Amino acid sequence: MALEDILNVVPAGSVEESLAKQIDYSRLPRHMAVIMDGNGRWAKERHLPRVEGHRAGIESVREIVEGSARLGIPVLTLFAFSVENWKRPVSEVSTLMMLLKRYLRLELNTLLRNNIRFRVIGRVEDLAPDVRAELVVGEEKTAGNTGMIFNIALNYGGRAEIVEAVRRLMTSGIHPADVDEERFSEHLYTAGQPDPDLLIRTSGEMRVSNFLLWQIAYAEIWVTDTLWPDFRKHHLLEAIVAYQKRDRRYGGITQPAVAGR
Ligand code: FPP
Repeated sequence: MALEDILNVVPAGSVEESLAKQIDYSRLPRHMAVIMDGNGRWAKERHLPRVEGHRAGIESVREIVEGSARLGIPVLTLFAFSVENWKRPVSEVSTLMMLLKRYLRLELNTLLRNNIRFRVIGRVEDLAPDVRAELVVGEEKTAGNTGMIFNIALNYGGRAEIVEAVRRLMTSGIHPADVDEERFSEHLYTAGQPDPDLLIRTSGEMRVSNFLLWQIAYAEIWVTDTLWPDFRKHHLLEAIVAYQKRDRRYGGITQPAVAGR
């Protein structure tokens, strides 16, 4: 997307406008992955139940999905529910699933309007049938879209994904000597997609939390103290501006950000 298009949707004189002007639109991250953290703390600070943090976090999801598509980001992955999150109270898990279903129902038109292709990555087969059905509708209705791919990581674990890829490889008939990094990647949930160039984590934690372990090998990591429900478009722009100032070397010598590799 051109800068003029972005400037049409941000208020004149705003922080967003100033950040949008600093971005080089020919060097956007090809894939942005986000660990949405801090919903519980956001609720606690307001003496609210934890689930209110998740509810408020939906607004951030809306803004970041639409904002990323408008910017022209090719792939966005949001970490919504990990394989470890089942350890949370049943009521919290069921509220998260309910919010996810509602998000999909209410936002389908926005996804279609913005030419966004919705996909789920993770062990979908373990999810309840009503949740799976909603996910399938979202995937099928947006399957023909050609713009941004929006992956939701649900019941997702990076190690579990790698183990699953090994299993698929072992049953694919490929000779072990023919397995290389490229072949291996073709058996991950993100097959065919570029690896994340930028990994964003909210709420100040310095962890990767079993997220896209294989794919983030060379990702630039940007952590903000902002809690996920407070994360807005200007934070996203700030992350991209910071990313474009990084010196990406891939173990070699200096290259500009997003150099072909
Ligand atoms: C982490 O905060 C957040 C989650 C485990 C869930 C994120 C889910 C949403 C924002 C809503 C559903 C998502 C979509 C894509 C519609 P936390 O509860 O671990 O916060 P804490 O570390 O402060 O306790």
